[in-house]
Amino acid sequence: MEKRGGFATKIGILMATVGSAVGLGNIWRFPYETGRNGGAAFLLVYLLSIFIIGFPVVMAEFVIGRKAKANPVGAFKKLAPNTKWHWVGYMGVLAGLLILGYYSVVAGWTMEYIFKALSLELENKSAADYKSMFETFTSNPILPIIWTVLVMIISHLIVKKGIKGGIEKASKIMMPILFLLMLILAVHSILLPGSMKGIEFFFNPDFSKLTAESVLTALGHAFFSLSLGMGCLITYASYFKSDIDLPKTAAQVTIIDTLVSVTAGVIIFPAVFAFNMQPEAGPGLVYMVLPNVFQQMSGSFIWSTMFYILLFLAALTSLISLHEVVTAYIHERYSISRSNSSRIVTALVLFLGVFCSLSFGLMKNATLFSMNFFEWLEYLTASVLLPLGGMLISIFVAWYLDKKIVFDELSNDGKIKVKGFKIYIFILRYVAPLCIFAVFVTSLVK
Ligand code: TRP
Repeated sequence: MEKRGGFATKIGILMATVGSAVGLGNIWRFPYETGRNGGAAFLLVYLLSIFIIGFPVVMAEFVIGRKAKANPVGAFKKLAPNTKWHWVGYMGVLAGLLILGYYSVVAGWTMEYIFKALSLELENKSAADYKSMFETFTSNPILPIIWTVLVMIISHLIVKKGIKGGIEKASKIMMPILFLLMLILAVHSILLPGSMKGIEFFFNPDFSKLTAESVLTALGHAFFSLSLGMGCLITYASYFKSDIDLPKTAAQVTIIDTLVSVTAGVIIFPAVFAFNMQPEAGPGLVYMVLPNVFQQMSGSFIWSTMFYILLFLAALTSLISLHEVVTAYIHERYSISRSNSSRIVTALVLFLGVFCSLSFGLMKNATLFSMNFFEWLEYLTASVLLPLGGMLISIFVAWYLDKKIVFDELSNDGKIKVKGFKIYIFILRYVAPLCIFAVFVTSLVK
């Protein structure tokens, strides 16, 4: 088998991992979940989930990945031979495939909206027009699927080039552009007259809106946003060099990802409130509400084009990380070439993608327990598989794995100082699994 690839530079590792974490989760999902779950109170639970549970689990995935240097299934087989632990890996690969199914569809929408913005289709319309524009587009049986195919082809072209020449290079170009666009948009939003109401909604908590379900949503979203719980970070860390400081990298990724979510909120909520729109629009928020917000600004088409390009770049760098997990598994498990493995993944994803896309049109009413196919995939992954995977990963690292292995990985064999190792293990042993379990049970009982 060919030699296993890897990332070449530290900055490349950071950009690629942040690229995986920062995505539709931060800019599309986080604002609408925050909007629907009451704003600041949701933000607070989300932040707690990120720092108390998410950050330790990021490090746990890093430890597994860099120690084992394999895809998620292979990694558990190596570190826990002759046990059932590799089922956590299978669960991860499955979750990856299911997430790709709907992620690729939403990523496709962003491309349509870039073109809508550029062709001035988003100008001079009423709120109802934007709503029906979004619904007409997403319920079209063909057009969104064409975009999904295009997005997956782009993702395939990057992934088949491998880690250094594909993922690392693409992330190093795309991420700085994304940060720059975000900064410009955020400053612009805050300067709008009337923006304070949005800032207040976002930062001033009203706990009466918080339900057990929204706590699970916040926790699940913390996992989703950090790309946690399905071995994505195991896979990326398997390509890290041995001198990479894992705790530091984990901290950087966690902080940058959180800052991007908060910035997305700062872009969206002040603008939504400044123009008297509703923040509870759900998944359509950035497609139905924002265009209406943009058109009322001077130079509107520049702002909307910039925003949808930003959304597309964010989506693409996350999409390739999911694509890579499943590709690496097929490539290493069945010794199929990288490009053929990536092609197989593309085909499987498109199959799921078609049903996801049709969930907004032809198959809208094909529901089970009042959720359609798209909603099922989202619920199964973000609210079930990721928290469950995260719980099992913390248990694995804290209870099964030899603590010396964990310490050696985190400290690069003693070369860097690790503070609070005991606390870290304590959190992974008790705090993280119990919190996840408690949130899980409470919401299932409901
Ligand atoms: N974190 C990305 C986002 O916020 C999505 C993503 C990429 C992801 N890789 C993942 C989510 C792995 C869960 C698991 O949009």
